[in-house]
Amino acid sequence: MKGLILVNAYTQNEHELNQPRRIRQELAGLGVPCDLRRNDFVPAWVAGGVRADAARGYDFCVYLDKDRYVPRLLEGAGMRLFNRARAVEVCDDKMLTHIALADVVPMPVTMSAPLCYTAGAPLSDALVGRVEEILGYPVVVKECYGSLGKGVHLARDRAQLHEIAARLQARPHLFQKFIAESAGQDMRVIVIGGRAVGAMRRTSKGDFRSNAELGGRGETAELTAQEKAICESAAQMLGLDYCGIDLLLSADGPLVCEVNSNAFFGTFERVTGINVARLYAQHIVNTMRSAS
Ligand SMILES: Nc1ncnc2c1ncn2[C@@H]1O[C@H](COP(=O)(O)OP(=O)(O)O)[C@@H](O)[C@H]1O
Ligand SMILES: [Mg+2]
Repeated sequence: MKGLILVNAYTQNEHELNQPRRIRQELAGLGVPCDLRRNDFVPAWVAGGVRADAARGYDFCVYLDKDRYVPRLLEGAGMRLFNRARAVEVCDDKMLTHIALADVVPMPVTMSAPLCYTAGAPLSDALVGRVEEILGYPVVVKECYGSLGKGVHLARDRAQLHEIAARLQARPHLFQKFIAESAGQDMRVIVIGGRAVGAMRRTSKGDFRSNAELGGRGETAELTAQEKAICESAAQMLGLDYCGIDLLLSADGPLVCEVNSNAFFGTFERVTGINVARLYAQHIVNTMRSAS
């Protein structure tokens, strides 16, 4: 068996290669060699589909980028991707994730922002009225494509809502109920092969966003049976082999905040002592062996 590990074409620094190298190391330990490559080799689409030789020489691919086209091409050529193309696409878009999971697991009440084609157009009174009636202030405004907390904002009143919406405008975004009890803290749960393998509680002192990149500190945490069940259902619904789920800790119980198909595991491994790369490698090898 031989695998391909693909990373973003523009990956430059050594730090970004830690995660793929860890996965390669653990797969090698299980007797499965892998090539680690940037995804700019891109084989060509041809009329009527893809050439089967796009996947030649490899049994599977660990896909660590969010580009949507290369994974479709590789799957079209018959390759098994970890994670699958569709699962990565849905997770990349926070609104699509919400739509896929809203009936399956508890989540904060969320509204999509209508697309805006006119530069400078203000939010309509009707939309502002619905945000205020359904969600109230403060309200979370989130870019659909964002990570590391960078696209997550808090509007404390109508003026701030207008100001944030004006800044985001053409970028897809959503409005979400602010879970005040969870401000500055959440739970990051890693799910591999349908099983929640561990959790890290993240706490931030100065920011309602608890992302490690914004100063959130991690500590190992026990999962309740309910938290475990919610995370496993979400991962299963999205068809994910591997993910990191952010849970908000509301007064009414855990709520799924977002699902990261490409979650970094460096801090999580250090804090929890769980060998995430090995568990993922074992899942990949078991899946491939049981398929053959
Ligand atoms: N609705 C919310 N209520 C309270 N805090 C939130 C809410 N949504 C997000 N947060 C906080 O902001 C952080 C970042 O939001 P998240 O949706 O996970 O985006 P990102 O992809 O940037 O990590 C979360 O980890 C959480 O601490
Ligand atoms: Mg997050």
